[in-house]
Amino acid sequence: MKRSAADERVLGAAAEIGRRIGSGKVIDDPDLLVPYGADESGLPASLPAAAIRAVDAADVAATLAVAADRGVPVTPRGRGTGKSGGAIPARGGIVLLTERMDRIVEIDREERLAIVEPGIVLQTFQEAVEAEGLFYPPDPASLDSCALGGNVAENAGGPRAFKYGVTREYVLGLDVALMGGATTFAGRRTRKGVAGYDVVAALVGSEGTLGVFTRVVVRLRVRPAATQTLLATFGDEVAAGEAVRDLLGSGLVPSVIEILDRHCLEVIRRAGHNPIPGEPGAALLVELDGRRPERVEADAEEAGEILGRRATEVLVASEPGRRRSLWAARRELSTLLGKAHAGKLSDDVAVPCKSIPAVLRRFAELGRRRGVLVSCYGHAGDGNLHANVLWDDPGLDVAGRAALDDLLGVVLEVGGTISGEHGIGMAKREALRREQSPELLALQRRLKSAFDPSGLLNPGKVIPE
Ligand code: MLT
Ligand code: ZN
Repeated sequence: MKRSAADERVLGAAAEIGRRIGSGKVIDDPDLLVPYGADESGLPASLPAAAIRAVDAADVAATLAVAADRGVPVTPRGRGTGKSGGAIPARGGIVLLTERMDRIVEIDREERLAIVEPGIVLQTFQEAVEAEGLFYPPDPASLDSCALGGNVAENAGGPRAFKYGVTREYVLGLDVALMGGATTFAGRRTRKGVAGYDVVAALVGSEGTLGVFTRVVVRLRVRPAATQTLLATFGDEVAAGEAVRDLLGSGLVPSVIEILDRHCLEVIRRAGHNPIPGEPGAALLVELDGRRPERVEADAEEAGEILGRRATEVLVASEPGRRRSLWAARRELSTLLGKAHAGKLSDDVAVPCKSIPAVLRRFAELGRRRGVLVSCYGHAGDGNLHANVLWDDPGLDVAGRAALDDLLGVVLEVGGTISGEHGIGMAKREALRREQSPELLALQRRLKSAFDPSGLLNPGKVIPE
């Protein structure tokens, strides 16, 4: 295969990196590079010319030093489970793999924090922490496959964010390597701290465009001793949306308030999961947790009463097996919807909670107008909806795209945001102009160039040109 001059330049840089950190860490066989061209966004793949498998901070720094020196783009990659194209090497170049950097450096029970490398699988980390009686709540519903570093890069949220907040609330400090190879620590190890600008806040959610994390200091909580899971079914999603408003207005703070519409429930049923009885028009999956089982039980009873005012049925999933199967079905939903339809474009918008019923109604209407189906599930407590535009006839591709466009219009009209948790990446880069002013975009371009003056770190992402 004939290689382009750009690829030759990348290969020259990769060879130089290999000389510095060991050639065994360089991948340049095109067949072996295929998995690093895509993520879980469904966007078209773009192959890198080389990948570097870093095992420590020195490897990361050396890669960024050589790449800057030779003008080669670098795309950092956790475990490639992102949904907005953040890990796709849009301009080719080098993919910097951090999955081998997966050690837990320290769990400090007394200070309730952990220091961890970015490649660790989230579930492995959560289990290690829970074995110490502690708790790390963020979970973007892919905990068995996503990397903690990727969660930090995307500021991942997930079902428990309603009570516990998103990744940003847990990151105290970051060891970071910058384009050019400089390394530094940003943030702190203490619970409080306001020294200097909040650089950690800029780095968390920067989608791999500002720096590459080599260690993360995260805050931990005490593990809740008890959890109660409720499943409420409704005649339609608008009634479920109203029940979310009732629940929020009650002052109860469930850890989870997930909504699933009629079509999602049907797809789950068709896949053989069948954890939800009957054929309801919508469901809410609600969890309450805490340190005192009697208190959690009393709160669950109250939540059940509130839901019962609008629900057709409220069930308590008391045995762990039932809870597990509910969650297994919920976690698989994105994949199941993709398998059930020829066309799927999914979104992760966030809207004010009070607008959920109206937004769900308008999504359904705009879908009907375009001849496609809009099916929603998501983290209703946060107003964070995964709206999926679905169609079966390949001739509807254009209509599907138009429906997604309309949908973002509705979200912005009610004061929402185009991304509640999946990030902008490549998927919503142009759409960001619809939410943010030219001045704000220009400010972010200047911030990016302060970290990465030549624009070589994860180019083609987040801020439109
Ligand atoms: C989820 O909530 O399941 C994740 O954000 C993934 C998704 O649905 O797209
Ligand atoms: Zn989600």
